[in-house]
Amino acid sequence: MKILILGGTKEAGALAAQLVEGGHDVTSSLAGRTKEPKPLAGKVRIGGFGGADGLSKYLVDHQIEKLIDATHPFAKQISENANAAAQATGVEFEVITRKPWQKQEDDIWIKVASLQEARDLIPENSRVLLALGSQYIDQFSKREDVFFLVRMVDKPDQDFPLPNHELLIGKPSADWQQEAKLIEQKKINHIICRNSGGTGAYAKIEAARKLGIPVIMVGR
Ligand SMILES: NC(=O)c1ccc[n+]([C@@H]2O[C@H](COP(=O)([O-])OP(=O)(O)OC[C@H]3O[C@@H](n4cnc5c(N)ncnc54)[C@H](OP(=O)(O)O)[C@@H]3O)[C@@H](O)[C@H]2O)c1
Repeated sequence: MKILILGGTKEAGALAAQLVEGGHDVTSSLAGRTKEPKPLAGKVRIGGFGGADGLSKYLVDHQIEKLIDATHPFAKQISENANAAAQATGVEFEVITRKPWQKQEDDIWIKVASLQEARDLIPENSRVLLALGSQYIDQFSKREDVFFLVRMVDKPDQDFPLPNHELLIGKPSADWQQEAKLIEQKKINHIICRNSGGTGAYAKIEAARKLGIPVIMVGR
C-alpha cells in the first residue's frame, strides 16, 4: 500500500519502520521544526503542504492509498488538516494518538487547560523547568519574578524575551535520576509541561514525584 504518515514523533518513526518491514511504500512527512531529525525507514518529505487543500492535492498527486496521522497530540492544526483532507479525498485514514499520562498517587499535579493559565499560577519568585518548544516561550516573559530553566531540542534562532532564564539544549534524559539531579542542581521548585504522554519525556514527571515537586500540567 502507498502510505503517507504525518509524523514528527517517536511513535510515527516506529510505525514507519514496521510498515516498511511489512512491504508497504511509506513516506513520512515532517514539518521541518527539528534541525537534525533522526533517520526514518522509507521515504521522507519535509515542510508544510499548504493547508488542508495542499494536503488533499498531495494525496491525489502521489496516489496515496492510506493517510496516517501520527503527529504529536498537541499538534492541532495538522490533525485538523489531515481529517479534512481525508474527507475531501476519501483516502483511508487512521489516527494514532498517544494516551495522556495518568496522575499517580504521589504526583503533585496542578491541572490547567492552557499555557496562559499555567503561567498565571506559578507562585511568586519560583524556579521553573519549562519543557516546551520555542514557539511557546514568549508568553512567559510577563513573569519577571520567575527564573525559567528552558529546555528544548534545538537552539532557538532568536533569544527569548524572558528576563531571568537559562537555556538547556538537548533531549530530556530517559532516566528519572538524571532528571532529579538536574532539578536539584538548578533548585527547580515547579515544572510546567503539557500532558504529551509517551515515554520520551516522562522521566521528569517521575523525578518530580520522587522529589515532591509540583507539576503544572497542561491538559489536552
Ligand atoms: N506541538 C508539539 O508540541 C510537538 C512536539 C513534538 C513533535 N511535534 C511534531 O512537530 C510537527 C509540527 O508540530 P506543530 O505543533 O507545529 O504543528 P501544527 O501547529 O499542528 O501545524 C502547523 C502547520 O505546520 C505544518 N505541519 C505540521 N506538522 C506537519 C507534518 N508532520 N508534515 C508536514 N507539515 C506539517 C502544517 O503546515 P501546512 O498547513 O502548510 O501543511 C500545519 O498547518 C508535527 O509533525 C508534530 O508531530 C510537535
